[in-house]
Amino acid sequence: MQKHITPDETSAIHHEFSPEIEVGLLAPSPWISPKFLYDPLGSHLFTAITLLPEYYPTNTEKNIFAQYQDQITDAIGIGGTLIDLGAGNCQKAESFFDSLKPSLYLAIDFSTEYLQDAVEKLEGKYPNIVMQYIGMDFSNQLIIPDSIATAKRTFFYPGSSIGNFLSAEALEILKQIKKQASDGGLLIGVDLMKEDSVLMAAYDDPLKVTAAFNLNILRSINYHLGSNFRVEQFSHKVKINHKEHRVELYLEALEDLTVSWPGNSKVFKAGDLIHTEHSHKYTIESIQQLLKNAGFEKTQIWTDPKTYFAVIYAQ
Ligand code: AVI
Repeated sequence: MQKHITPDETSAIHHEFSPEIEVGLLAPSPWISPKFLYDPLGSHLFTAITLLPEYYPTNTEKNIFAQYQDQITDAIGIGGTLIDLGAGNCQKAESFFDSLKPSLYLAIDFSTEYLQDAVEKLEGKYPNIVMQYIGMDFSNQLIIPDSIATAKRTFFYPGSSIGNFLSAEALEILKQIKKQASDGGLLIGVDLMKEDSVLMAAYDDPLKVTAAFNLNILRSINYHLGSNFRVEQFSHKVKINHKEHRVELYLEALEDLTVSWPGNSKVFKAGDLIHTEHSHKYTIESIQQLLKNAGFEKTQIWTDPKTYFAVIYAQ
């Protein structure tokens, strides 16, 4: 069976990003889509973030998975297809391979290069699981290829990546998942609201790994757009937006500067901001409502003792 499903088979168009990047950079309040954080280096930097003691979501979720693995497995049932959205290094899905025993594992991520390495490493370890991967930007549209059986699909969306979408976008993605899950379901990890000091430490860590992750987006943009951003002219900035229940990441220009790319340019004054990421924090009630609005009728929820994070199986 073919292992790498090419983007064209999913009829999605995503190799031409320049127009989208240009619209964001030239907007009155400039922005860059967070998907550009995950180039090969950015994906490694994100993995480094997940190892930081300050970045509580990964460990908290991991502990919930470990503590409630039997209950989660009972809720989902064994066999079937495990579809990993934003698979990264595939480690979280791997932690369920022995209990869920999927017959097929489909890993989806924006960065194909990183995914390929991860899937190839896993294949030797789990010869009974058919493994496939797709490099896909599912932030606009999620299309699971027809070659993937529709029966018993479990979508796996851990790490609170849903929080990186505005609520209207999150609703749309969840609706698309619900439609394509048929008789299966969604296992999702969601970060919950908590005190500012915990959030600030997690998103502005003292080792500056998150700063490097955020700044690297400028190199990723240089690659896609042919621009001449210089990372040393910007700094990482974090704001907590209480009204919108989210952490916001920005890059702040440290001096007056001009960035150019084929056909255009943009002037930044010292202090100007480029928005790079939202990380929404939910309550149990608000995520349940969102899942309900997306068509999921039943939810089972597991949390940690501090209720920092929730793992939900929705059907
Ligand atoms: C992938 N996503 C859920 C992370 C988050 O916490 O929003 C991305 C991240 N940004 C900075 N640190 C981690």
